Amino acid sequence: MKNLTLCIDKANQFVGTGAVEALEQKTKAALEALEHGTCPGNDFLGWLHLPSSITSDFLQEIQRTADDLRASCDVIVVAGIGGSYLGARAVIEALSNSFAWLKQTSPAIIFAGNNIGEDYLAELSEFLKDKRFGVINISKSGTTTETALTFRLMKKQCEEQRGKEEAKKVIVAITDANKGAARAAATKEGYKTFVIPDDVGGRFSVLTPVGLLPIACAGFDICQLVQGATVMEKVCAHDVPFTDNPAAQYAAIRNALYNSGKKIEILVNYQPKLHFMSEWWKQLYGESEGKDKKGIFPASVDFTTDLHSMGQWIQDGERSIFETVISIDTPNRQLLFPEDEENLDGLNFLAGKRVDEVNKMAELGTQLAHIDGGVPNIRITIPQLNEFYIGQLIYFFEIACGISGNILGVNTFNQPGVEAYKKNMFALLNKPGYEAESKAIRERLKIN
Ligand code: PA5
Repeated sequence: MKNLTLCIDKANQFVGTGAVEALEQKTKAALEALEHGTCPGNDFLGWLHLPSSITSDFLQEIQRTADDLRASCDVIVVAGIGGSYLGARAVIEALSNSFAWLKQTSPAIIFAGNNIGEDYLAELSEFLKDKRFGVINISKSGTTTETALTFRLMKKQCEEQRGKEEAKKVIVAITDANKGAARAAATKEGYKTFVIPDDVGGRFSVLTPVGLLPIACAGFDICQLVQGATVMEKVCAHDVPFTDNPAAQYAAIRNALYNSGKKIEILVNYQPKLHFMSEWWKQLYGESEGKDKKGIFPASVDFTTDLHSMGQWIQDGERSIFETVISIDTPNRQLLFPEDEENLDGLNFLAGKRVDEVNKMAELGTQLAHIDGGVPNIRITIPQLNEFYIGQLIYFFEIACGISGNILGVNTFNQPGVEAYKKNMFALLNKPGYEAESKAIRERLKIN
């Protein structure tokens, strides 16, 4: 069985001979620090050996809950934000038929609790009016405003439409074992619950019930997902030699590039289904590394779509970027380009070829053009877009992130910076307990 592979040759040429090798000791030390729990943030390393420690009994329990929800709901609303949202959405969108939402496959998975858009929530509520819907409420802290606000609305509507007792059967909470409002509500109402382990932070939680339950509800094989991640856990382990360990190599090259002035990493895909994989990746790397006034800025594009917009900047703008391309060897479907007698579009030279061949030539042509334009290129290849390889991709990015943050010298597993906006928002909303902040912010903004 093939695995995910990494190619850094076309990035290496930009940092010069020996730059990656020079980081070998730091990279190895970072891996050892993760393995032995001696790095900053070491109380959040529960994700490290998570794949190989998930039991089949646990997966079956998740599957049973998913099956129950699937049987009694036409729509499942997944309420969560950040790490309590992006992983599930990334996997579900990568694996779903692109038109699933139009085909009205049952149950539809809808994501909410990740914004405070009044129109979004009002339209969601209107859409759900005649639907048998259930809710998965995901929040580790159990107090996140976006999610809590959405859950309050969804709970009320679900109870009104189904009755309080029936609603209880289709609401599931995924939260802390003891703390937070989501846990308190679940205990009081008697909802089915799953625990987010204390030692797994939000952005590393996709292989906990946070990701697994919504993914199973969408009808995808969570055993294969975990299996793929377990394989990568071995491939990227601390005792695998530096040159054979793709996560170590990826972490080293991105730090070498950063040290050489490449401050922005653009994650590139050539399959629109991977759009949310990039959103998940951006959170993983942005929240993990962007601190202490350091860190690569993680950006993303969908090619070839964005070659017609951001392509100009990437080819020719400031040379502070590098690209990491996720390439998929073989699409799951086959579509041949048809012959046309009149050939008015002049495309008969493509007749009989697979559409993917055109895509692959676009990929290769773009890689060459961008390298010629001074953009280092890293390439991650997976054989196919399925649960197994998505599992590999997830774990690969997680462990590489753990290593990379460590090389950079930050605490990869905290996120102190996300509190600043919350403090201001609560002060502005006059949240009880924020009286002093409220007064100060109003004086500063000169408002009442
Ligand atoms: O990675 C993180 O820690 C954050 O993105 C959180 O997941 C996000 O803020 C949601 O937090 P919670 O699950 O507590 O609602």
